[in-house]
Amino acid sequence: MKKEINEIKVKKFDLQQEGDLFIATTIADLIRKKQAANELAVLGLATGSSVLGVYRELIRMHKEEDLSFHNVVSFNLDEYFPIQATHPLSYHTYMNEKLFDHVNIQKQHIFIPNGNVEETAVESICEEYENTIKKFGGIDLQLLGIGRNGHIGFNEPGSEADSRTRMITLDSVTRNDAASGFGGLDKTPTHAITAGVATILDAKKIILMAWSTGKAAIIAQVLSSEVSSEIPASFLKHAEDVTFVLDKEAAAEVRS
Ligand code: GLP
Repeated sequence: MKKEINEIKVKKFDLQQEGDLFIATTIADLIRKKQAANELAVLGLATGSSVLGVYRELIRMHKEEDLSFHNVVSFNLDEYFPIQATHPLSYHTYMNEKLFDHVNIQKQHIFIPNGNVEETAVESICEEYENTIKKFGGIDLQLLGIGRNGHIGFNEPGSEADSRTRMITLDSVTRNDAASGFGGLDKTPTHAITAGVATILDAKKIILMAWSTGKAAIIAQVLSSEVSSEIPASFLKHAEDVTFVLDKEAAAEVRS
């Protein structure tokens, strides 16, 4: 477990689109650098609304600037449980619609936790997920959004620094935020499978993005608070290379 406290770099943009472009360019540079060295680029990808602009920009770069995803391996952070991959609100569907269907990533290079297994199989698929990440040499660049309660992936408050990929009970803040999509709280999943805090901290580079006023309070809290499992994103202070990319609204409450 990493214990040292490092500085979280903060990059602030007037407009979200500028932040999207900055992040997409960072990803494209990594992919191209790895291509030049004949290596795979291992990305840790996220879902939610915050990453949508980055995925749109990557698709544009693929179509207009010849950015190839042939050498990209991707590991998604999380998936609801139980859920079928084909469910319209599964993260499998999200990733296909928002990114994978539009670029030339190889199907066998896509990894998303499987939310459609028997509960008794969850532990072994989680272990396999961790082993597969290791087999590819670890994650080069991890993208993160942040929940209003400070969750990263689905590491809800109470998640520990040494947590690994596992099943988690979703927090009420998270379920309420997801309820409108699922057509009501009673239809919203109660559980998910998520990469752990330690899985995330192992990434060689981490970018967390947050846009608009809705994220201002939690961003300021993460940056100013002690490291605590009550705010899982605060564990990012233990990561070696982490940058928060914010628009001016999300950065509004950050003390400089
Ligand atoms: C979900 C995802 C998280 C994401 C969060 C924030 O809970 N599991 O990985 O960071 O939503 O979502 P949004 O970007 O829509 O605010």
